[in-house]
Amino acid sequence: MEGVRPSRLDSFLRPVHRWVWRDPLRRARKLFRFAETEADGGRDLSRAAELTADALLRRLYLRHALDEQRHAVLFRQRGRSLMNGLPSAAHDGFEANWLAPGERGLDDLHVDGARDGSLLAFLHLSEKAAAGRFAIYQEVLGSDPGTQAIFSEILRDEAFHMRYTQTQLVRMEPNKHRLRLWQARLGRLGKAYLRAAAAIAGLLGTLLLLLQYAVLLPPFALLAKRAARREPKGWTVRRQTSSMKSQY
Ligand SMILES: [Fe+2]
Ligand SMILES: [Fe+2]
Repeated sequence: MEGVRPSRLDSFLRPVHRWVWRDPLRRARKLFRFAETEADGGRDLSRAAELTADALLRRLYLRHALDEQRHAVLFRQRGRSLMNGLPSAAHDGFEANWLAPGERGLDDLHVDGARDGSLLAFLHLSEKAAAGRFAIYQEVLGSDPGTQAIFSEILRDEAFHMRYTQTQLVRMEPNKHRLRLWQARLGRLGKAYLRAAAAIAGLLGTLLLLLQYAVLLPPFALLAKRAARREPKGWTVRRQTSSMKSQY
């Protein structure tokens, strides 16, 4: 797709993306997850169309919202047909969402209270990142032409979203469009940091729990075993130590 290229990092990680998309169950689950994000983004864009005072932007936001809703349907249908082709006993799988997150950004969209310039800048960066990711997914899905065709179709819309948001940003804020882009970049960076911090915290929590199980539990189990060995076997009558005159 002209003007849409995967990022350098995604190109470098091509073998990883190939691995992520190889498993049909994971592929289906990821498509369902993508469908949720797209539908969510579609709803937010309908809200943006309601809020804007600019007639052209309203039309574009509505078209954008319809595109995202259609992407949701396409992803869901493809996910369902992949699932139907799998053995009935589907298992839980690892989705690797942080490696292949789809149209991330749309899930972070805050429409209420945002001015058109800031919203357009945020949308432009999100759509650009999504288009780059979809381009690499499309490349590595050679073994599944059905899913590959879905990504090619959606990629055309994402490229349009990426372009119209930039053009409209320049129209709405001719003198500040670069500033808005930098502000949006910083906002995305902050969110990426929070996401990474939460993922690392989750990982550390799991590691600490495992460490507790491995280091703290064995000595207690050993002590309990020793104490059990000292206990006399069978039923025993204990010597009465409490006074019969008192409750205690
Ligand atoms: Fe989309
Ligand atoms: Fe999009």
